[in-house]
Amino acid sequence: MPFDEASLPKTVTAETVLSVRHWTDDVFSLRLTRPSAFRFRSGEFIMLGLMSDGKPLLRAYSMASPAWDDGLDFYSIKVQDGPLTSRLQHIKEGDKVLLGKKPTGTIVLDALKPGKRLYLFSTGTGIAPFASLVREPETYEKFDQVILTHTCRNIADLAYGADLVANLCDDPLVGEEAPGKLTYYATTTREQFDRMGRITTLIETGKLFDDLGVAPLDRETDRVMICGSMAMLQDTKALCENAGLEEGSNASPGDFVVEKAFVD
Ligand code: A2P
Repeated sequence: MPFDEASLPKTVTAETVLSVRHWTDDVFSLRLTRPSAFRFRSGEFIMLGLMSDGKPLLRAYSMASPAWDDGLDFYSIKVQDGPLTSRLQHIKEGDKVLLGKKPTGTIVLDALKPGKRLYLFSTGTGIAPFASLVREPETYEKFDQVILTHTCRNIADLAYGADLVANLCDDPLVGEEAPGKLTYYATTTREQFDRMGRITTLIETGKLFDDLGVAPLDRETDRVMICGSMAMLQDTKALCENAGLEEGSNASPGDFVVEKAFVD
């Protein structure tokens, strides 16, 4: 989809697609060039999109790569009748994608008070900001233990997260520290797997903590980040509040933070 870069709005830049990977019929990831002036904090999101009828069509996407990486990774759902992802899913290496200039978000380490254990609760493409944070050295400077949970309907949907975790030992910055500090806990809800159940059920029944061999959520030691569908955010947030944790923000750091997984 070629377009005249000179006519782009000042709020976006045109970035080149470096690679695309289709994980399933429903999800894919892409890597873009990163403008030298583009700065963000690991876990933040940005507007991403394509030109449509002469205008930018943009959606919010979490950066799935850490702040120190030369390129920008994104992880996206494919919605067959979605205005953006119905087209974005056909993008190829060398194509151009529009990238906003103002990253923002609450799934950042700055929005959390100091703690010992960091839970990263995700469903579906909500794992994207955590793909950034588990490769961020500051995550391991601030926490002794990092627990990444990912729940999807089917086993194939877990591939992106499983691949991310498997490659962490080769990561240039966190390769030594991450494998000893990160625990990956993946579950499915609609296909038979070693571990099954919604994260909310696993928290409520205590099975998550039993499986991990840790105490239930405790605001003295535990911090939580949540990213998934709106319903998952609400339900998981309620469980954090029941455990006495308070929501944080950039302006006022707290015990947990939430963010919507941005989809069409
Ligand atoms: P389930 O299969 O029981 O609906 P989706 O693809 O719909 O976004 O769902 C991704 C994963 O999130 C699924 O495993 C789904 O479980 C789970 N999920 C959906 N709603 C909630 C919720 N309110 N709380 C926790 N997990 C949820």
